[in-house]
Amino acid sequence: MAVSGNELGLVKVGLLGCGTVGSGVVQILRDRAELIARRTGCDIRVRKIAVRDLADPRYVEVPDEMVTTRVEDVLGDPELQVVVELIGGIEPARSFVMDAISRGKHVVTANKALMSTYGGEILEAAEQAGMDVLYEASVGGAIPIMHPLKEGLAGNSISRILGVINGTTNYILTRMAEEDMAFRAALSEAQRLGYAEANPENDVEGRDAAAKIAIMASAAFNSRVHLEDVYTEGISRVTPADIAYARELGYAIKLLAIASDDESGISVRVHPTMIPLKHALASVNDVFNAIFVEADAAGDLMFYGRGAGSLPAASAVVGDVIAIARNLRAGGREVGCTCFATKRIKSMNETVCRYYVLLDVPDRPGVLAQIASVFGNNQVSIKSVIQHGGGTEARIMLVTHRVTEESMMAAIHSLMTLPVISSIANVIRVEDEGD
Ligand SMILES: NC(=O)c1ccc[n+]([C@@H]2O[C@H](COP(=O)([O-])OP(=O)(O)OC[C@H]3O[C@@H](n4cnc5c(N)ncnc54)[C@H](OP(=O)(O)O)[C@@H]3O)[C@@H](O)[C@H]2O)c1
Repeated sequence: MAVSGNELGLVKVGLLGCGTVGSGVVQILRDRAELIARRTGCDIRVRKIAVRDLADPRYVEVPDEMVTTRVEDVLGDPELQVVVELIGGIEPARSFVMDAISRGKHVVTANKALMSTYGGEILEAAEQAGMDVLYEASVGGAIPIMHPLKEGLAGNSISRILGVINGTTNYILTRMAEEDMAFRAALSEAQRLGYAEANPENDVEGRDAAAKIAIMASAAFNSRVHLEDVYTEGISRVTPADIAYARELGYAIKLLAIASDDESGISVRVHPTMIPLKHALASVNDVFNAIFVEADAAGDLMFYGRGAGSLPAASAVVGDVIAIARNLRAGGREVGCTCFATKRIKSMNETVCRYYVLLDVPDRPGVLAQIASVFGNNQVSIKSVIQHGGGTEARIMLVTHRVTEESMMAAIHSLMTLPVISSIANVIRVEDEGD
């Protein structure tokens, strides 16, 4: 778009969806129009908004004539240069995004389900058509992370990303830790406060975090990682006792999304994890998110902020719209797909870490020796043991040295057949430095 002197470059935007995030986008672009224009030289205007039901309540005031239930009114409008997809889910969002690209529109989306499943296909179509597809809000809400991974850190080799990237589970774990609350009670409180959905499965079972780490891993390691590649385990088995024992051992329990890259391939997983209390991620509490990046030149970095909410997510969406608007005014493109390599995705069995194991056993001589022998037979070596209780029953907490998941799971299966074990209360992976 050619602009001379003080003339503002007009950029016309269409929204698909005007719910939590969409209304935040309308609000920011409207309330900060002057500031954005002064900063960018662009007059960014929302011109059309497609929704599912005109009768649904809007959290922001929009002129009636701007809102439609016909998605074609947005996709088929030749004047609109940017389409912002804020519907969520795979279909029809995927078809709408592909359609927008094929009609020569740049796309911004906040859709993690879509980008973690069809990101490769969408970015390839965008490349072919010469369009930009930006998706900063799909990971970490307000936190700028996709832009840093693809641009600011492009001179680095990134070896590992650790993320607390699901606000719902982080809120639940924080309440469990601070108020000794059981998982169910903390979940109910999160639902009452609007931090968890009526059907919380996607968050609690780790799938939301899995989608986000797949998106980040693809950008960080230059090789496509899909949602289905991510080993995923949720937090529903974590108890307040695990959290208290973890603290005694010097750890916090977080639902961690972990992606690492080395010469043997990419490892990508989401599960409850014990991390040292002194690690920066251990103090990320409540609904906050944080992403810890280990890069060879920059060193360790942490990106922290609000992972969800109308204005936080809209902030990231608007940042992407502004980047496209700047390009429309000045020429140029954003960084597209950076997955130029095809790296092997390692199986979970190859993961190497420490493990915490909590066992209920009868309190009598010889029990510990039998447990130690099972671990030894499976090449698992024990780093520390703490025993609680006494009388007839005792609880044994063990932390192992670093071992493969395969050996550890073999040891756990053998323990299950050991008559002296009353129950294996929990097994939690420990991310720690050292052997
Ligand atoms: N909420 C957050 O904090 C957050 C944070 C980061 C990323 N995201 C992502 O942002 C996206 C939007 O989330 P949200 O929380 O804003 O969702 P939402 O509140 O449920 O809003 C969805 C919007 O899409 C519209 N819609 C649904 N199906 C449609 C269709 N077939 N055609 C046209 N419009 C349709 C709905 O219309 P009606 O209003 O008429 O029902 C509604 O306006 C999702 O991909 C989500 O994962 C959300």
